[in-house]
Amino acid sequence: MTRIALLGCGRIGRMHADIIAAHPRATLAGVYDTHAPSAQEVADKHGVTNFASPEAVFASEADAVLVATPTTTHVDFIKAGVAANMAVLCEKPVDLDLANARACAEAVAGATRPIMIGFCRRFDPGHRAARAAHRDGRLGDLHQVIITSRDPGMAPDAYIETSGGIFRDMTIHDLDLARFMLDEEVTHVTATGARLVDPALMQRCDDYDTVTVVLTTASGKQAVITNSRAACYGYDQRVELFGSGGMALSDNHRTHAAQVWGEGYTGQAAPLQHFFIERYRDAFNAEIDNFVDAIEGGTPEVTLNDGVKALALAEACFRSIAEGRTIAVKDV
Ligand SMILES: NC(=O)c1ccc[n+]([C@@H]2O[C@H](COP(=O)([O-])OP(=O)(O)OC[C@H]3O[C@@H](n4cnc5c(N)ncnc54)[C@H](O)[C@@H]3O)[C@@H](O)[C@H]2O)c1
Repeated sequence: MTRIALLGCGRIGRMHADIIAAHPRATLAGVYDTHAPSAQEVADKHGVTNFASPEAVFASEADAVLVATPTTTHVDFIKAGVAANMAVLCEKPVDLDLANARACAEAVAGATRPIMIGFCRRFDPGHRAARAAHRDGRLGDLHQVIITSRDPGMAPDAYIETSGGIFRDMTIHDLDLARFMLDEEVTHVTATGARLVDPALMQRCDDYDTVTVVLTTASGKQAVITNSRAACYGYDQRVELFGSGGMALSDNHRTHAAQVWGEGYTGQAAPLQHFFIERYRDAFNAEIDNFVDAIEGGTPEVTLNDGVKALALAEACFRSIAEGRTIAVKDV
């Protein structure tokens, strides 16, 4: 059994704890959170150790650590995990600063155990099936990837204020997914951003709540990402792959599959699954499965380098808006 310790028992950490505890080849090796009651609650739920400090986690018998703490702590915890010869699965993004993320990747380049970044969307069964259609040739030559990702509502002000901005916090998932789907590195980035949902907050944070990004590759393939912080109808997650031989669509998930027809309405459907914990639950399960596989000698689907590359694309998005032009990724 692979023993995985958890750092951070907040929104996503609690979910990871449940998934690890239920995994047939993993055990939860204990938890730590600076907010002791949160850690105690998760420790009690799963009957595991509530470590007194991060140092105690890294000195423990755990094989691996899952980092689900705020982004500004990620780099230190990745390095500490590697120094303790543990495998690491760290939530996205690697850091808010590209230079820090690159320095971290250099510092741990000699790691002998896997380091993965939590780009869970790569593991979504629908997204993977769409990608498989491209990779096995059913779509012919891939021309365009279209990713729509809209949150069901504005995050709290305090979250937005420390998020590092929409491209590093939210779009980063889609930037990674675009790389994954295109199967080719992005060479150029053009972004536009607007403050349409909460202009005052966005102005204060020098951020955007509504963005569109165009990515291009050396061979001319295109990816378009549209994000909004607030879709009134719910968490909108769709990916479309278009090629010379066809199109693949990984569509939204609803709370159930029934549809109702009546006078004046057709195919009235259930609401979309609320947010990422529900919508990407299969993906989060598969992510942990891949992490355990990787620790047992398999291949990690997402690497630290993928985390750094996505952050470079996020940086290019901000630069594209600031400079009003297309940015060559090699210059970032
Ligand atoms: N993959 C995804 O879809 C996804 C979704 C949400 C969040 N995230 C990422 O996960 C991370 C955590 O996000 P969240 O929404 O769970 O945040 P959260 O605020 O709900 O939880 C963070 C937890 O970490 C604890 N903490 C803070 N500093 C700590 C430290 N130094 N050591 C140990 N614990 C510490 C806090 O007390 C809190 O309980 C962020 O980096 C975020 O970007 C990823």
